[in-house]
Amino acid sequence: MINPLRGMKDISFDDSARFTHIVKISIEVAKRYGYNYIETPILEETTLFKRSVGESSDIVGKEMYQFVDKGGNDVCMRPEGTAGIVRAFVSAKLDRQAMKHKFYYYGPMFRYERPQKGRLREFHQFGCESFGESSVYEDFTIIGMVAQIFNELNIGYDLLVNSLGCPKCMPVYRINLISFLSVIKNELCEDCNRRIDTNPIRVLDCKNKKCQSLLVDSPKLINNLCAECDEDFKKLTELLGKTDIGYKIDTNLVRGLDYYNKTAFEFISNDIGSQSAIAGGGRYDKLVEYLDGKSTAGVGFALGIERIMELVKIPQSQREGYYMGIMTPDAIDSILLLAVQKRKSNKATVEYKSKGFKSHMKGADKANARYALLIGEDELKNGTVWIKDLDSGEEKTILVDDI
Ligand code: HAM
Repeated sequence: MINPLRGMKDISFDDSARFTHIVKISIEVAKRYGYNYIETPILEETTLFKRSVGESSDIVGKEMYQFVDKGGNDVCMRPEGTAGIVRAFVSAKLDRQAMKHKFYYYGPMFRYERPQKGRLREFHQFGCESFGESSVYEDFTIIGMVAQIFNELNIGYDLLVNSLGCPKCMPVYRINLISFLSVIKNELCEDCNRRIDTNPIRVLDCKNKKCQSLLVDSPKLINNLCAECDEDFKKLTELLGKTDIGYKIDTNLVRGLDYYNKTAFEFISNDIGSQSAIAGGGRYDKLVEYLDGKSTAGVGFALGIERIMELVKIPQSQREGYYMGIMTPDAIDSILLLAVQKRKSNKATVEYKSKGFKSHMKGADKANARYALLIGEDELKNGTVWIKDLDSGEEKTILVDDI
């Protein structure tokens, strides 16, 4: 027997109902906010992720599904969606247009992580990316859209927000942070020590309790923002404060991808264990340029479908469509042709085998059909069908042409 690879899963039955429900609600909400569907390849040049997600990130440094293909190209299974969408945006020369573009997407992402509950090697995201809008109002709107998706899925959450500054204030803060970290360097964990040189900001979100206690007095970026970033962050929190979304400022929220500036946010659930982030996102105003495009503002988010599947209860599905069966083998052609007609606008499940009445009624129940429609010897002879509404219990025999 061949099983899925470690950290990868088949999604079927109840799981697939939850999966499609999450995607359906997310698409409905995204469309209301003006987003259009985009599909980009799963396989991309490795350079794309090095230049966007960043070489110092764990994702690129340790977790890529990277290989050389038969043509000698260094390629990688996408670990996230944003880089590919930005690449597509630049490939299509949309950066040269003065228009705003908004895309939504969903699909599999691959990270060679140590699998545990809520942490997979192949997982699925639904995400949105908005291009060309530098106003903080768009950050507010995107956060509101994620909150709306969770509300419509009936899921509780906590929202954490932070500002990562911009190329004006971040470098100054970085120097401050490095000098703070170099004093406590010997007491910090191995990972933090490595990060002081490669990506000091990431030291702030180290999960090690001792490191966290040493970082309590670290300089905070939100106290060192330039006037523009400060004003934007204040506006964002002021607007969020006027809604029922609720938020907490988390000065250690730095995100695991290097492309962010200004707003960074995460939605957390306390009901799914340690891998609690159910969505994350933020602003990435430099990313289009990093990927050779014309300077274009960008902001977006992605939610983790498998983590949300743990939380979502799907509404009891209602009886729908037809169950069609025969009680004499001769009626097979009639029932098949009837199904062709019905399927033009309805769901129809057809049982090919001639069976007894009770067995058919069980089949109709299993198929969760609204109507059971049967043809026996008499019906075949008379050009009729027997039909029962399984919701109301009403039943009758009618001419095929009158269905
Ligand atoms: P991310 O925070 O790396 O952001 O991932 C987004 C969500 O994907 C997480 O909040 C989590 O729910 C889910 N996720 C991540 N890794 C795993 C895993 N190994 N197993 C299961 N679920 C996982 C991004 O990927 C950015 N591209 C989001 C973004 C879009 N920022 C701007 N635009």
